[in-house]
Amino acid sequence: MHRLGKKSLSAATQDLPGGGLALLFGASGGIGSALSKRLRADSRFAGVVALSRSGSPPLDLLDEASIAAAADNVAAMGLDLRLLIVATGVLEGEGCFAEKSWRHLDAQALAQSFAVNTIGPALLIKHFMPLLPRSGRCVFAALSARVGSIGDNRLGGWYGYRAAKAALNQILRSAAVELKRSRPEAICVALHPGPVDTGLTAGFGKHGLEVQTPDIAAARIINTFDRLRAADSGGFFDQHGRGIPW
Ligand SMILES: NC(=O)c1ccc[n+]([C@@H]2O[C@H](COP(=O)([O-])OP(=O)(O)OC[C@H]3O[C@@H](n4cnc5c(N)ncnc54)[C@H](OP(=O)(O)O)[C@@H]3O)[C@@H](O)[C@H]2O)c1
Repeated sequence: MHRLGKKSLSAATQDLPGGGLALLFGASGGIGSALSKRLRADSRFAGVVALSRSGSPPLDLLDEASIAAAADNVAAMGLDLRLLIVATGVLEGEGCFAEKSWRHLDAQALAQSFAVNTIGPALLIKHFMPLLPRSGRCVFAALSARVGSIGDNRLGGWYGYRAAKAALNQILRSAAVELKRSRPEAICVALHPGPVDTGLTAGFGKHGLEVQTPDIAAARIINTFDRLRAADSGGFFDQHGRGIPW
Protein backbone atom coordinates (compact mmCIF):
# COMPACT_ATOMS: atom_id res chain seq x y z
CA MET A 1 0.00 0.00 0.00
CA HIS A 2 1.19 3.48 -0.85
CA ARG A 3 2.02 4.96 2.56
CA LEU A 4 2.15 8.73 2.52
CA GLY A 5 0.72 9.75 -0.83
CA LYS A 6 3.99 11.54 -1.62
CA LYS A 7 5.89 9.08 -3.79
CA SER A 8 6.03 9.76 -7.54
CA LEU A 9 5.08 7.18 -10.16
CA SER A 10 7.74 5.37 -12.16
CA ALA A 11 8.13 6.34 -15.82
CA ALA A 12 7.45 2.77 -17.02
CA THR A 13 3.99 2.17 -18.45
CA GLN A 14 1.75 -0.76 -17.46
CA ASP A 15 -0.63 -1.93 -20.15
CA LEU A 16 -4.24 -2.61 -19.27
CA PRO A 17 -5.38 -6.01 -20.56
CA GLY A 18 -6.87 -5.39 -24.02
CA GLY A 19 -10.50 -5.84 -25.00
CA GLY A 20 -12.08 -4.39 -21.87
CA LEU A 21 -14.44 -1.54 -21.17
CA ALA A 22 -13.60 2.04 -20.18
CA LEU A 23 -16.23 3.86 -18.18
CA LEU A 24 -16.39 7.62 -17.77
CA PHE A 25 -18.64 9.58 -15.39
CA GLY A 26 -19.07 13.29 -16.10
CA ALA A 27 -18.49 12.91 -19.84
CA SER A 28 -20.19 16.28 -20.51
CA GLY A 29 -17.64 18.32 -18.51
CA GLY A 30 -14.57 20.14 -19.78
CA ILE A 31 -12.10 17.43 -18.75
CA GLY A 32 -14.68 14.65 -19.21
CA SER A 33 -15.32 15.56 -22.88
CA ALA A 34 -11.60 15.57 -23.63
CA LEU A 35 -11.16 12.23 -21.84
CA SER A 36 -14.09 10.79 -23.76
CA LYS A 37 -12.49 11.68 -27.12
CA ARG A 38 -9.14 10.21 -26.14
CA LEU A 39 -10.63 6.99 -24.74
CA ARG A 40 -12.68 6.43 -27.88
CA ALA A 41 -9.50 6.70 -29.96
CA ASP A 42 -7.67 4.25 -27.67
CA SER A 43 -7.56 0.85 -29.35
CA ARG A 44 -6.99 -0.98 -26.05
CA PHE A 45 -10.68 -0.72 -25.22
CA ALA A 46 -13.41 -2.79 -26.85
CA GLY A 47 -15.92 -0.21 -25.70
CA VAL A 48 -16.25 3.16 -23.99
CA VAL A 49 -19.30 4.08 -21.94
CA ALA A 50 -19.50 7.82 -21.36
CA LEU A 51 -22.16 8.79 -18.83
CA SER A 52 -23.53 12.18 -17.82
CA ARG A 53 -26.65 13.89 -16.50
CA SER A 54 -27.62 14.94 -20.03
CA GLY A 55 -26.86 11.53 -21.58
CA SER A 56 -29.28 8.75 -22.31
CA PRO A 57 -29.94 7.18 -19.90
CA PRO A 58 -29.00 10.09 -17.61
CA LEU A 59 -26.70 9.53 -14.65
CA ASP A 60 -27.19 12.01 -11.82
CA LEU A 61 -24.97 11.67 -8.77
CA LEU A 62 -27.83 13.01 -6.64
CA ASP A 63 -30.08 10.14 -7.75
CA GLU A 64 -28.79 6.78 -6.54
CA ALA A 65 -31.38 4.92 -8.63
CA SER A 66 -29.81 6.34 -11.81
CA ILE A 67 -26.40 5.09 -10.62
CA ALA A 68 -27.76 1.61 -9.87
CA ALA A 69 -29.46 1.47 -13.28
CA ALA A 70 -26.21 2.46 -15.02
CA ALA A 71 -24.35 -0.28 -13.14
CA ASP A 72 -26.97 -2.85 -14.25
CA ASN A 73 -26.57 -1.72 -17.89
CA VAL A 74 -22.79 -1.94 -17.72
CA ALA A 75 -22.89 -5.39 -16.08
CA ALA A 76 -25.20 -6.59 -18.86
CA MET A 77 -22.57 -5.66 -21.46
CA GLY A 78 -20.48 -8.59 -20.22
CA LEU A 79 -17.10 -6.93 -20.83
CA ASP A 80 -14.32 -6.68 -18.24
CA LEU A 81 -14.18 -3.21 -16.71
CA ARG A 82 -10.59 -2.02 -17.04
CA LEU A 83 -10.79 1.73 -16.48
CA LEU A 84 -13.29 3.86 -14.54
CA ILE A 85 -12.82 7.61 -14.35
CA VAL A 86 -14.97 9.88 -12.22
CA ALA A 87 -14.70 13.32 -13.84
CA THR A 88 -17.68 14.92 -12.10
CA GLY A 89 -17.52 17.76 -9.62
CA VAL A 90 -18.75 21.22 -8.71
CA LEU A 91 -16.98 24.24 -7.24
CA GLU A 92 -19.51 27.04 -7.56
CA GLY A 93 -23.08 27.15 -8.83
CA GLU A 94 -25.97 24.72 -8.39
CA GLY A 95 -26.21 25.72 -4.74
CA CYS A 96 -22.45 25.60 -4.02
CA PHE A 97 -20.15 28.51 -3.23
CA ALA A 98 -16.39 28.98 -3.30
CA GLU A 99 -16.43 30.64 0.15
CA LYS A 100 -13.75 33.29 0.71
CA SER A 101 -14.35 33.59 4.45
CA TRP A 102 -16.07 31.76 7.30
CA ARG A 103 -18.68 34.54 7.03
CA HIS A 104 -19.93 32.84 3.84
CA LEU A 105 -20.37 29.36 5.33
CA ASP A 106 -23.87 28.11 4.60
CA ALA A 107 -25.23 24.76 5.75
CA GLN A 108 -27.13 24.01 2.57
CA ALA A 109 -24.27 24.96 0.27
CA LEU A 110 -21.85 22.79 2.27
CA ALA A 111 -24.27 19.86 2.10
CA GLN A 112 -24.67 20.33 -1.66
CA SER A 113 -20.91 20.37 -2.24
CA PHE A 114 -20.56 17.17 -0.22
CA ALA A 115 -23.49 15.58 -2.07
CA VAL A 116 -21.88 16.09 -5.48
CA ASN A 117 -18.15 15.99 -4.71
CA THR A 118 -18.06 13.28 -2.03
CA ILE A 119 -21.27 11.28 -1.67
CA GLY A 120 -21.89 10.92 -5.43
CA PRO A 121 -18.48 9.35 -6.08
CA ALA A 122 -18.94 7.19 -2.95
CA LEU A 123 -22.16 5.81 -4.47
CA LEU A 124 -20.29 5.12 -7.72
CA ILE A 125 -17.82 3.07 -5.65
CA LYS A 126 -20.72 1.20 -4.03
CA HIS A 127 -22.34 0.24 -7.34
CA PHE A 128 -19.33 -0.18 -9.65
CA MET A 129 -16.51 -1.64 -7.52
CA PRO A 130 -18.32 -5.01 -7.30
CA LEU A 131 -18.26 -5.13 -11.13
CA LEU A 132 -14.46 -4.98 -11.36
CA PRO A 133 -12.82 -8.16 -12.64
CA ARG A 134 -11.23 -10.37 -9.97
CA SER A 135 -7.98 -10.69 -11.88
CA GLY A 136 -5.90 -8.51 -14.16
CA ARG A 137 -5.03 -4.84 -13.95
CA CYS A 138 -7.87 -2.32 -13.73
CA VAL A 139 -7.96 1.30 -12.55
CA PHE A 140 -10.67 3.23 -10.68
CA ALA A 141 -9.71 6.91 -10.49
CA ALA A 142 -11.65 9.92 -9.29
CA LEU A 143 -10.63 13.46 -10.15
CA SER A 144 -9.97 15.13 -6.84
CA ALA A 145 -8.14 18.44 -6.38
CA ARG A 146 -4.89 19.57 -4.81
CA VAL A 147 -6.92 22.05 -2.75
CA GLY A 148 -8.37 18.99 -0.99
CA SER A 149 -4.93 18.37 0.49
CA ILE A 150 -4.94 19.39 4.17
CA GLY A 151 -1.13 19.40 4.32
CA ASP A 152 -0.95 21.71 1.29
CA ASN A 153 -3.61 24.20 2.46
CA ARG A 154 -1.83 27.51 2.92
CA LEU A 155 -4.37 29.89 1.38
CA GLY A 156 -7.58 28.86 3.13
CA GLY A 157 -10.99 29.69 1.63
CA TRP A 158 -13.09 27.39 -0.57
CA TYR A 159 -14.19 25.65 2.64
CA GLY A 160 -16.85 23.40 1.17
CA TYR A 161 -14.97 22.31 -1.98
CA ARG A 162 -11.71 21.73 -0.08
CA ALA A 163 -13.44 19.72 2.64
CA ALA A 164 -15.54 17.71 0.18
CA LYS A 165 -12.44 16.76 -1.83
CA ALA A 166 -10.53 15.85 1.37
CA ALA A 167 -13.45 13.61 2.35
CA LEU A 168 -13.49 12.13 -1.17
CA ASN A 169 -9.79 11.31 -0.79
CA GLN A 170 -10.47 9.46 2.46
CA ILE A 171 -13.30 7.49 0.84
CA LEU A 172 -11.04 6.51 -2.07
CA ARG A 173 -8.35 5.43 0.37
CA SER A 174 -10.80 3.20 2.28
CA ALA A 175 -12.07 1.75 -1.00
CA ALA A 176 -8.48 0.99 -2.06
CA VAL A 177 -7.90 -0.95 1.16
CA GLU A 178 -11.11 -2.96 0.67
CA LEU A 179 -10.47 -3.50 -3.04
CA LYS A 180 -7.05 -5.04 -2.43
CA ARG A 181 -8.61 -7.90 -0.43
CA SER A 182 -10.57 -9.29 -3.38
CA ARG A 183 -8.74 -7.79 -6.38
CA PRO A 184 -5.02 -7.50 -5.61
CA GLU A 185 -4.13 -6.23 -9.10
CA ALA A 186 -6.77 -3.47 -9.08
CA ILE A 187 -5.87 0.16 -8.41
CA CYS A 188 -7.96 2.93 -6.83
CA VAL A 189 -6.55 6.46 -6.71
CA ALA A 190 -7.37 10.15 -6.27
CA LEU A 191 -6.03 12.26 -9.10
CA HIS A 192 -5.51 16.03 -9.30
CA PRO A 193 -5.77 17.06 -12.97
CA GLY A 194 -3.87 20.33 -12.46
CA PRO A 195 -5.37 23.70 -13.44
CA VAL A 196 -7.53 23.19 -16.55
CA ASP A 197 -9.45 25.76 -18.57
CA THR A 198 -13.04 24.55 -18.07
CA GLY A 199 -16.38 25.88 -16.89
CA LEU A 200 -15.49 24.87 -13.32
CA THR A 201 -12.65 27.39 -13.12
CA ALA A 202 -14.15 30.13 -15.33
CA GLY A 203 -14.29 33.37 -13.40
CA PHE A 204 -11.48 32.43 -10.99
CA GLY A 205 -8.03 34.05 -11.07
CA LYS A 206 -5.32 31.86 -12.58
CA HIS A 207 -2.33 34.13 -11.93
CA GLY A 208 0.88 32.11 -11.66
CA LEU A 209 -0.85 28.83 -12.60
CA GLU A 210 0.17 26.73 -15.59
CA VAL A 211 -3.33 26.35 -17.03
CA GLN A 212 -3.76 23.41 -19.42
CA THR A 213 -6.24 22.88 -22.22
CA PRO A 214 -8.68 20.04 -21.47
CA ASP A 215 -7.05 17.95 -24.20
CA ILE A 216 -3.55 18.26 -22.74
CA ALA A 217 -4.92 17.55 -19.26
CA ALA A 218 -6.71 14.43 -20.58
CA ALA A 219 -3.51 13.17 -22.24
CA ARG A 220 -1.57 13.64 -19.00
CA ILE A 221 -4.26 11.95 -16.92
CA ILE A 222 -4.29 8.88 -19.17
CA ASN A 223 -0.48 8.76 -19.19
CA THR A 224 -0.57 8.80 -15.38
CA PHE A 225 -3.03 5.88 -15.33
CA ASP A 226 -0.68 3.94 -17.58
CA ARG A 227 2.11 4.30 -15.02
CA LEU A 228 0.13 3.22 -11.96
CA ARG A 229 1.09 -0.08 -10.32
CA ALA A 230 -0.88 -2.09 -7.77
CA ALA A 231 1.42 -0.71 -5.04
CA ASP A 232 0.24 2.84 -5.92
CA SER A 233 -3.38 2.02 -5.05
CA GLY A 234 -4.71 4.27 -2.30
CA GLY A 235 -2.49 7.17 -3.39
CA PHE A 236 -3.14 10.80 -4.34
CA PHE A 237 -1.30 11.95 -7.47
CA ASP A 238 -1.13 14.94 -9.76
CA GLN A 239 -1.38 14.93 -13.57
CA HIS A 240 2.35 14.27 -13.84
CA GLY A 241 2.23 11.28 -11.51
CA ARG A 242 3.76 13.14 -8.58
CA GLY A 243 2.45 12.23 -5.14
CA ILE A 244 0.48 14.91 -3.25
CA PRO A 245 0.45 15.08 0.58
CA TRP A 246 -2.89 14.28 2.18
N1 LIG B 1 -10.68 22.45 -14.02
C1 LIG B 1 -9.75 22.46 -13.08
O1 LIG B 1 -8.84 23.32 -13.08
C2 LIG B 1 -9.76 21.42 -12.00
C3 LIG B 1 -8.75 21.47 -11.03
C4 LIG B 1 -8.74 20.53 -10.01
C5 LIG B 1 -9.70 19.54 -9.99
N2 LIG B 1 -10.68 19.50 -10.94
C6 LIG B 1 -11.67 18.44 -10.86
O2 LIG B 1 -11.81 17.80 -12.11
C7 LIG B 1 -13.15 17.30 -12.25
C8 LIG B 1 -13.74 17.76 -13.58
O3 LIG B 1 -13.79 19.16 -13.57
P1 LIG B 1 -14.00 20.05 -14.88
O4 LIG B 1 -13.01 21.15 -14.79
O5 LIG B 1 -14.06 19.21 -16.10
O6 LIG B 1 -15.43 20.67 -14.54
P2 LIG B 1 -16.73 20.92 -15.45
O7 LIG B 1 -16.36 21.25 -16.84
O8 LIG B 1 -17.56 21.88 -14.69
O9 LIG B 1 -17.42 19.48 -15.43
C9 LIG B 1 -18.06 18.98 -14.29
C10 LIG B 1 -18.77 17.70 -14.61
O10 LIG B 1 -19.44 17.25 -13.42
C11 LIG B 1 -20.78 16.91 -13.80
N3 LIG B 1 -21.71 16.99 -12.68
C12 LIG B 1 -21.93 18.03 -11.84
N4 LIG B 1 -22.93 17.69 -10.99
C13 LIG B 1 -23.34 16.44 -11.32
C14 LIG B 1 -24.33 15.56 -10.83
N5 LIG B 1 -25.15 15.90 -9.83
N6 LIG B 1 -24.46 14.35 -11.41
C15 LIG B 1 -23.69 13.99 -12.46
N7 LIG B 1 -22.74 14.78 -12.98
C16 LIG B 1 -22.57 15.99 -12.40
C17 LIG B 1 -21.12 17.94 -14.87
O11 LIG B 1 -22.29 17.53 -15.56
P3 LIG B 1 -23.24 18.59 -16.35
O12 LIG B 1 -22.56 18.82 -17.69
O13 LIG B 1 -24.53 17.87 -16.45
O14 LIG B 1 -23.31 19.84 -15.52
C18 LIG B 1 -19.86 17.87 -15.71
O15 LIG B 1 -19.87 16.72 -16.53
C19 LIG B 1 -13.92 17.79 -11.01
O16 LIG B 1 -13.93 16.78 -10.04
C20 LIG B 1 -13.06 18.95 -10.52
O17 LIG B 1 -13.22 19.14 -9.13
C21 LIG B 1 -10.73 20.42 -11.95
